[in-house]
Amino acid sequence: MRMYDIIAKKKHGCVLSDEEIKFFIDGYTSGSIPDYQASALCMAICFKGMTDEEAAQLTFHMMHSGDTVDLSALPNTADKHSTGGVGDKTSLIIAPTAAVLGLSVAKMSGRGLGHTGGTIDKLESIPGFRTTLTSEEFMSQVKNIGVAIIAQSGNLAPADKKLYSLRDVTATVDSLPLIASSIMSKKLASGAETIVLDVKYGSGAFMKTPEDATHLAEVMVNIGKANGRKMCALITDMDKPLGKNIGNSLEIIEAVEVLRGESKGELYDVCVALISNMLSISTGISYAEAEEKTKDAIDSGRSYKKFLEWISAQGGDVSYITENKLPVGKFNDVVAADCSGYIAHLDAECIGSAACALGAGRVTKDDSPDLSAGIIIEKNVGDYVQKGETLATLYTSDSTKLESAKKAILSCIKYSDKQPESNPIIYKTVY
Ligand code: URA
Repeated sequence: MRMYDIIAKKKHGCVLSDEEIKFFIDGYTSGSIPDYQASALCMAICFKGMTDEEAAQLTFHMMHSGDTVDLSALPNTADKHSTGGVGDKTSLIIAPTAAVLGLSVAKMSGRGLGHTGGTIDKLESIPGFRTTLTSEEFMSQVKNIGVAIIAQSGNLAPADKKLYSLRDVTATVDSLPLIASSIMSKKLASGAETIVLDVKYGSGAFMKTPEDATHLAEVMVNIGKANGRKMCALITDMDKPLGKNIGNSLEIIEAVEVLRGESKGELYDVCVALISNMLSISTGISYAEAEEKTKDAIDSGRSYKKFLEWISAQGGDVSYITENKLPVGKFNDVVAADCSGYIAHLDAECIGSAACALGAGRVTKDDSPDLSAGIIIEKNVGDYVQKGETLATLYTSDSTKLESAKKAILSCIKYSDKQPESNPIIYKTVY
């Protein structure tokens, strides 16, 4: 078999066989297939696509390119994955709540890159929190308290790691089968029986329309089911940031507000829908019953108690949570509205980039983010503002970053004379 023929076959829009896909993944992982041939194939896939069967085979071989985690010793294992967004702190609420409801959450998460944040960076803003545990510590913590979240291990789906870096620099990230196989290879290798996906659409997401996000969700749900997992996906709005806080410690603060019952709204609604689906498909109870249990877990304060237990089990100093003293940037400033009107659009990608410019994100993989930097959005889509009113508050450890971030935020906002219609936060659920 020759890589040249596989590239030519896909260039002509033909369907690759399982053996050809395996040959590519094995050869690229071992180094016998060079980057230039792998990037030519990725580009051909971008233009010609893949059948759902090819995407499932690609996922399977990427999943088996490295370690797979065996969670069979734990009951009702469940995981969630979001396709990336701005202000998305749902894992911090979902993980302890799912544990309260009897699910085992043995979760591996990533770090942020570009305009989207990563759960691991957020957790590291809690002093003492350990994002690396030995596999014995990881398993025994989940057995004892139902939840652990650690940084993704180096040898999970190494084919994806190599391929994703290559796609990043060859303009081949935005291909539906490549995104689906990349995400699902890591999720399947992480071992959970039940996987709930939050597939975002809008300006801050890979998929710009709800229809494209639905198609991506269907492909991923089918890949998971073909590999024996219980699956569902929510399609949610990422045209504007989720919730009001963007930035690592600021997002922990907002998640804690939801867990303490101090804040409801779209963030709460998305979390309730994700957890209820997770519980329902994992245990077979109806969605209505699962939703009642989920709301009760959060509203009764049991999820908050579990959150503190989890943070403490991983070495985090919970006094930073209970005494509200998580670090926020020592320099702050407000962004004032430059005209009066309804906020018609608050571009998620643009806001994410402004948070990044304040220091909250990474521009390259090796950057260390300022965990205390970020933005609190005070006025959101649909709100009426008077010229001069505060739209957002900015935080950073570097005062020289404030002026340009203020200008950047103003460029993210569009005003209207009429109250805009708002999109429902959840577009649909794919089973
Ligand atoms: N996230 C991933 O892990 N892979 C992709 O291809 C896109 C988003």
